[in-house]
Amino acid sequence: MAHPKSASDAVRAVHQAAFARMNLADQPYDHRIAPFADEATYRQRLEPGQDKYYHYLRGLVQVLQPKTVVELGTCQGGSALFMLLDLPEDGTLTTIDVAARPEFLASCMDDPRLRLVEGSSTDPALPERLGLRDVDLLFVDTDHTCAQVAAELAKWLPLVRPGGVIAFDDVHMNDMDDFWDAFDLPKVDCGTQLHWSGFGVAMKEA
Ligand SMILES: C[S@@+](CC[C@H](N)C(=O)[O-])C[C@H]1O[C@@H](n2cnc3c(N)ncnc32)[C@H](O)[C@@H]1O
Repeated sequence: MAHPKSASDAVRAVHQAAFARMNLADQPYDHRIAPFADEATYRQRLEPGQDKYYHYLRGLVQVLQPKTVVELGTCQGGSALFMLLDLPEDGTLTTIDVAARPEFLASCMDDPRLRLVEGSSTDPALPERLGLRDVDLLFVDTDHTCAQVAAELAKWLPLVRPGGVIAFDDVHMNDMDDFWDAFDLPKVDCGTQLHWSGFGVAMKEA
């Protein structure tokens, strides 16, 4: 990546680098993906459509080489699976949900880099209980409302390191436009290229 001049340039460069990696040569199938999709289905899903943000998240991890990744909203574990695939060996992915059913992570349950946490993203005691700080990549994907994302960022944004990246799914769902428009960090609106409901990426200024 070329050296960016400003935080806005930096987040745009990260976005472009992650986006550029979204092809099969950079994102090969491996056996850990099987609970999510067989190889033929996986190839189809790498085309523009519902799951494209999974491949983008994988690309973000490839580009950023983060040590500490936090996900708010595990659900079936699809996004966590794709962020885990190329996470550095000394990295950790902590994924938090009030009621996860992580069937897509079935082949990763023994991976020491994965931490599945049952809890609320807005529990003020949770970050300290988990000992999380200096977060390199935070992915926010819970109930897609302005009120909840604001409550989540109040807790979690201080834990993102300067220069760390925050990704948001569904930035154009419900009243999320109000949040996204007002969110005052260098950011890229990925439109509906990655998900029909919108996707955005931002950077905490160094
Ligand atoms: C859209 S799903 C997450 C999808 C997943 N990130 C993916 O892309 O594969 C949203 C999840 O957020 C969880 N959720 C909603 N409110 C939450 C909260 N306050 N704390 C933690 N998880 C929450 C729900 O239980 C649900 O599983």
